[in-house]
Amino acid sequence: MILSVSGLDVAYGRAPVLHGIDLEIPDGGFVCLLGRNGVGKTTLLNTIMGVLSPTSGRVLLDGHDVTERPSCARVAAGMGYVPQGRDGFPHLTVAENLDVVMEASAGGDRTAVDDVLDRFPRLVPLLGRRAGNLSGGQKQQLAMARALVTRPRLLVLDEPTEGIQPSIIDEIEDALATLGQAGGLAFLLVEQYVEFALRLADTYAVMEAGRIVDSGPASSLHADDASRLLAV
Ligand SMILES: Nc1ncnc2c1ncn2[C@@H]1O[C@H](COP(=O)(O)OP(=O)(O)O)[C@@H](O)[C@H]1O
Ligand SMILES: [Mg+2]
Repeated sequence: MILSVSGLDVAYGRAPVLHGIDLEIPDGGFVCLLGRNGVGKTTLLNTIMGVLSPTSGRVLLDGHDVTERPSCARVAAGMGYVPQGRDGFPHLTVAENLDVVMEASAGGDRTAVDDVLDRFPRLVPLLGRRAGNLSGGQKQQLAMARALVTRPRLLVLDEPTEGIQPSIIDEIEDALATLGQAGGLAFLLVEQYVEFALRLADTYAVMEAGRIVDSGPASSLHADDASRLLAV
């Protein structure tokens, strides 16, 4: 298992948000996590990435306990994060945003930047542009490119289609599908766009009120059933 989460409880101050979360992602697997707004999806991803600390439970990466490890150590060990809201460094250019990540990563090399630009060719003419001046779709592609510069083995994405126009969503889907086919990379995708998520994933999980209440093969969940399940 590239990722193994067990018995995770997370609270904000005294307010518990996640209750006993168990989640496993096999090497090269693609898990999508579905659920309404406010059920705790981002909280779970932030805990997996070491942005938040759990009150109990464990996060194992490749069988190694990283529960006490900071985010930067988890990234160095093979996790990449495309957070919700996709900020990056708005005052830096696209090129600088990629270079900062490359320089911060152990063994970071320029070919990693070239490789991600091959995957996201729309970023090439934007390299000199400030990240804060990009469109939503361009920012999302930059956020994915930044996460890939460290050559992760697990890519964690939080609602990458949120607020993105359909033609760019198609490009993001193609990029994720191509990355998956290349092998060696596992995915944990949080999405509200159920059809998108189920086309890409091999396994789904549904969260409600801080718990995983359902999971199974993605092929067994019909998008309209899932949408009904998730409707507000
Ligand atoms: N920084 C925070 N401080 C306190 N409560 C928070 C914070 N972030 C999120 N919450 C609460 O935790 C719950 C889960 O939020 P979140 O993980 O963002 O859900 P989702 O990503 O599924 O929409 C919500 O009730 C939300 O209001
Ligand atoms: Mg969220």
